[in-house]
Amino acid sequence: MSTVLTGLIELSQLYVDPDYQRQGIGQRLLEWGLKQADEDGYPVYLEGTTSAKPFYEKAGFATKAEPVFPGVVGADGAEYKQYFMLRPVA
Ligand SMILES: CC(C)(COP(=O)(O)OP(=O)(O)OC[C@H]1O[C@@H](n2cnc3c(N)ncnc32)[C@H](O)[C@@H]1OP(=O)(O)O)[C@@H](O)C(=O)NCCC(=O)NCCS
Repeated sequence: MSTVLTGLIELSQLYVDPDYQRQGIGQRLLEWGLKQADEDGYPVYLEGTTSAKPFYEKAGFATKAEPVFPGVVGADGAEYKQYFMLRPVA
């Protein structure tokens, strides 16, 4: 987490080794960061991928913008897209 943006904390990188995904590790890491953000009184912003979107929605993030990148194809073969997401202070 970083505070490069004014008034927000940005979650810039969160990855779990594919061999260990869907075991609750990402959620525990995210909860640690969100607790810090809540204690400091900041909403949290991130730029997420299509595959990670449900993970962040479960944690209370909502999509505020969905930019597409015409001509750029993601690993899944679909047009590359990102989700700009925000979670308010709990
Ligand atoms: C996104 C990521 C960090 C999640 O970490 P994780 O340890 O696999 O997630 P968890 O096991 O803690 O999942 C918690 C909950 O989030 C949701 N979730 C997680 N991954 C999901 C997926 N691929 N599809 C749908 N829901 C998902 C589920 O509700 C899950 O609970 P459940 O397993 O009991 O159903 C991990 O999958 C990852 O590193 N992905 C690749 C890199 C990436 O996209 N990083 C984000 C860049 S913005």
